[in-house]
Amino acid sequence: MVGRVQLQVSYWPGRKAPGMMRTLRVIFCVSTLISFVVAQPSTSWTNDPQIESRVEQLLKQMTLEEKVGQLITYSQGAPTGPGTGRSNYKEMVASGHLGSIFNLTGAAETNAMQKLAVEKSRLHIPLLFGLDVIHGYRTEFPVPLALSATWDPALVERASRVAAKEASRDGVRWTYSPMVDIARDARWGRIVEGAGEDPYLGAALAAAYVRGYQGSKLSDPESVAACSKHFVGYGAAEGGRDYNTAEIPERLLRQVYLPPFQAAANAGVATFMSAFEALNEVPASANAFTLTQVLRKEWDFKGFVVSDWNSIGELIPQGVAANHAVAAGKAILAGVDMDMESNAYGPHLAELVKSGVVPESVIDESVRRVLRVKIALGLFDHPYTEVKPDTIAPEDLELARKAAEESFVLLKNDGGTLPLRANGKTVALIGPLADDAGQMLGSWAAKGNAKDVVTLRSALTREVEAAQGHLLYAKGTEVMGSSDAGFSDAVGAARKSDIVVLALGEDAQWMTGEAGSRTRLDLPGNQQQLLEAVAATGKPVVLLVFSGRPLVLNWAAQHIPAILEAWFPGVQAGPALANVLLGASSPSGRLTVSFPRAVGQEPLYYNHFNTGRPADGADLTRPPKANNEKFLSRYVDEQNSGLYPFGYGLTYSTIAYSPAMVSAIALGAKELNAGSASLKVTAEVQNTGSRAADEVVQLYIRQTGTSVARPVRELKGFRRVTLAPGQSQKVEFTLGREELKFWNIEMKDVVESAQLTVWVAPDSTQGKPVQVNIGQ
Ligand code: NOJ
Repeated sequence: MVGRVQLQVSYWPGRKAPGMMRTLRVIFCVSTLISFVVAQPSTSWTNDPQIESRVEQLLKQMTLEEKVGQLITYSQGAPTGPGTGRSNYKEMVASGHLGSIFNLTGAAETNAMQKLAVEKSRLHIPLLFGLDVIHGYRTEFPVPLALSATWDPALVERASRVAAKEASRDGVRWTYSPMVDIARDARWGRIVEGAGEDPYLGAALAAAYVRGYQGSKLSDPESVAACSKHFVGYGAAEGGRDYNTAEIPERLLRQVYLPPFQAAANAGVATFMSAFEALNEVPASANAFTLTQVLRKEWDFKGFVVSDWNSIGELIPQGVAANHAVAAGKAILAGVDMDMESNAYGPHLAELVKSGVVPESVIDESVRRVLRVKIALGLFDHPYTEVKPDTIAPEDLELARKAAEESFVLLKNDGGTLPLRANGKTVALIGPLADDAGQMLGSWAAKGNAKDVVTLRSALTREVEAAQGHLLYAKGTEVMGSSDAGFSDAVGAARKSDIVVLALGEDAQWMTGEAGSRTRLDLPGNQQQLLEAVAATGKPVVLLVFSGRPLVLNWAAQHIPAILEAWFPGVQAGPALANVLLGASSPSGRLTVSFPRAVGQEPLYYNHFNTGRPADGADLTRPPKANNEKFLSRYVDEQNSGLYPFGYGLTYSTIAYSPAMVSAIALGAKELNAGSASLKVTAEVQNTGSRAADEVVQLYIRQTGTSVARPVRELKGFRRVTLAPGQSQKVEFTLGREELKFWNIEMKDVVESAQLTVWVAPDSTQGKPVQVNIGQ
């Protein structure tokens, strides 16, 4: 048992368990190979008398200008937003008028700047260096949407820890991650940066990222302060267009968009980033309701809030500030502590205090928050970074490979096309993403280096040749290509082969991530034509889709026998894909976003409300026969459901679910609210196939008869289990107050009496319902 303990973790994302956030339940101590250490979240810094007294000591010595200096961060080097043209901050640092710099990396570089702050500035307050370390620093892991498809918080935590270790080695002690925006619209490019459409999963992963980045102690030199962003509602951009307005009624905000942020706060996240968009007509970077009422008053958040890049300056075009001075006043009064790149606080805050617009106590409070984080990070005691070799540890590469393997989602596998039987066979590998190392890194790749990437072409060639087979490669076209000059080579290679693997998809940099919104969700350029030309050879085709979002894959779903969603898998893209394609491991990712049949279905998400005229399953192959078929909530040209639902993913094995069992068929809302009652839900899953497989067992609920409508399904538990052929495992979930409460008609967060339906299922559309009555 030693060292091979499988911890099964149940997440109650919004709940503060005694002293800590999470409840660990050790259920099984056998055989399977998931062994990990879950760090205790670093929350102690939020309430440490020693830190507080150091903060006060410093604060009372500071001039107003020095205080303002702590409330600014500027970008040096590679910009990650519209250029500002400024970059020489040495004088500001030496005079104590700049407290943080981002996009500056390297131990030598950050140490040189730090020396100015520590040795030259009057109060020797160290700088805090920030960077977008989003899914790895040098060891790039799969993009966050892919990481979410692992449904494996322990793995996400470990990946974030690796990122923290590598970033801190380069002087970076603050990452602008995790992005915990719920995204229900695949058009939005930044859907790639988050955990998809579900608040429960999003909350579990938000906490996992924070634990990984911050470790058990922020003061550990290998810990970095995390930043949950973009607070809040950024993912609900109208039309999926980046930076666009979001309209989110308060109940929806609290029910869907806030929980991952709250989970991050409860896990001790050190910072938040205020978003760009106008939320309900009040820009998120001047929104006192979210930044002060919710974040400070309700959640008691003790860290600081940084604005997004120039989001304070953008209050002007958004129409709520006439100039930078007004914008600065609105932002700080609303609760934005630090100005990133707007150049609004630096020139204007002191004046606003002197003219009485902003009380100095407001500035003091913001400075306290910043100093608290700096002290907690140990920057005052260890401001410099030890110069160490910039290498990738073998075990970190191994983790990157495992993460990629767990993230791939097998969407279709007719006739057991996969795994490939490559022995002595000729495999044609075709497509613009088969050998493009840079694309595999995905968007926001920090210090990811294409040279570290093993492409699919190189890994698959090695494996196929080791199996006495032969690999033919043809690029076919470019990702956004229009020329079909490469088609004949591609078709020729396909004709000469036994099996074809097509590597198609999006351009990671241009089409995914910030400012990467799309109105079309098909394969870009002429890749669809390439796919059709290759499929026309009649050879068995495996389609690998590299994308940062769900694409519309209707044609492929009809004509291609096997489809694997590969996302952008990171440095170990090739080995991970080769392992899964050749069957060394079984695909085990599950979708965390719904895949549409048509762009016009967006926003598309599984946890929607029912209409008064539900029409799922309506037959669209013929005109409706009667009015009660016509006047339904449906499209006349497409089904309501997505092509592949939330939670979905196949494996190389088959998994049978027993009916779910509940510990009671009736419970009282009063007891549930008091925490004295809960419902246990159990089911047994069995691997009935001949290969080992991981199954992600999912628990869904629906509540009806309530004061406000509840979604048709809501995820309230999940568990990844590893099953050998023939092995079965009992999986138990608990539904208590945290899982059953919702914001009711009186905007109270309570459990109401309801008819409760429970499913334990392999995805959001399956499972046999079990009914439970929740009485008064
Ligand atoms: C703008 C992005 O919205 C944000 O996510 C990022 O952290 C900052 N730029 C800094 O690069």
